[in-house]
Amino acid sequence: MDKLIITGGVSLKGDVQISGAKNAALPALAASLLAPGKSRLRHVPDLMDIKTMGRLLESLGAVYRYDKSLSEAEIDTSGINNFEAAYELVKTMRASVMVLGPLLARFGTARVSLPGGCAIGARPVNLHISALRKMGAEIALEDGYIIAKAERLRGASIYFDMATVTGTENLMMAASLAKGTTVMENAAREPEVVDLADMLTSMGAKVYGAGEGTIEIEGVDELKPFDHRVIPDRIEAGTFMAAAAITGGDIVLRGCETGHLEAVITKIKEIGVSFEKLPQGLRVKGSGRPVAEDVRTLPYPGFPTDMQAQFMALMSVADGTSIITETIFENRFMHAAELRRMGADISVQSGSATVKGVAGLKGADVMATDLRASASLVVAALAAEGQTTIHRLYHLDRGYEAMEEKLKGVGALLERVK
Ligand code: EPZ
Repeated sequence: MDKLIITGGVSLKGDVQISGAKNAALPALAASLLAPGKSRLRHVPDLMDIKTMGRLLESLGAVYRYDKSLSEAEIDTSGINNFEAAYELVKTMRASVMVLGPLLARFGTARVSLPGGCAIGARPVNLHISALRKMGAEIALEDGYIIAKAERLRGASIYFDMATVTGTENLMMAASLAKGTTVMENAAREPEVVDLADMLTSMGAKVYGAGEGTIEIEGVDELKPFDHRVIPDRIEAGTFMAAAAITGGDIVLRGCETGHLEAVITKIKEIGVSFEKLPQGLRVKGSGRPVAEDVRTLPYPGFPTDMQAQFMALMSVADGTSIITETIFENRFMHAAELRRMGADISVQSGSATVKGVAGLKGADVMATDLRASASLVVAALAAEGQTTIHRLYHLDRGYEAMEEKLKGVGALLERVK
């Protein structure tokens, strides 16, 4: 397993190019199943999770090609002949459950392995299943698989008990080809949901209200392939903001969409970081020791749970005490124990963490436990005294494209060891 050795203490300086959003590309790739023919997706990051989705589509009979030099994926779904998403693939990436809606909508049948839990929580898919049942799908859970059938899905009124992102996306795809109109209340509002709505609309779907709490979809009889460019990755951008803040750096984020990051920018401004919109991108300038601020994660447009770990790293060296409350996942503080190994003073209660800022962290051997925890360890290591070795780097590779090249590009001292 690869590891990353980082020597901390360098103030990052220079430009970083933000890649396309993993969490926009994944539902978009699944949506290619809705229309026979060749679809093209642009601005697709070269990540493990994207490769896994490509392999999943191929296992269903699609022809999938990814051109790294262009960051583009081409999917031909004319030959879909298998409707089973096998455990071997689904267990490595929960987002695989997003083929359920499209397979049901277009082929009337699907057999998708139940995604297991993961480090950050049980992460059930009960809301996906109950909503599809409302649309007339017969769904049984057997031997760890979701077995679903539907003559033709029909429009329904759906209320999500929790604003589930992939649940909203799964149902948007299912409803696009259903007979009649579907109304989804308490739908997720994330920019990735809006991006999917834009793409479905370009395929001929009739989707209204994405980005607000209620989405209305008038089903159509067929959709056509898409040629779509995904939005930039707001969590990657937020991660680099934290890196600039903790190292007192001065970087320019090229290609980031500040409109998707208002809660994060507001919070990072509060701790003393300045932002400036330049023609070539967003300038982020750290200035000395961050000031401690509390944060509570919420569904969009609130502070994103996917930035909580990175913010905790930042607060671990802040001037003062910060209370970090995680309201989305029940076990998303695994990074706290690793940060403590670097000298952080963090105590975790249920649902919240108290971070007493220390003057500085010290490099240590630490272990990544999940995608954003690994990002938080990178942020901490960039400011720690001496060398940090981050083990189980595959967690980072799932969600960050060329992270070490981008960090080297702004002066960080790091190397990947096979
Ligand atoms: C998406 O996961 C993202 N993944 C996650 O990003 C992100 O952390 C999460 O949304 C929250 O923003 C992708 O978009 C591929 P949820 P998702 O359904 O859709 C509960 C990353 O780092 N819930 O919005 O799986 C669930 O347990 C990843 O890139 C149910 O109870 O998250 C959680 O507590 C990590 N039943 C809450 O809702 C359901 O049927 C929000 O989960 C569905 C969800």
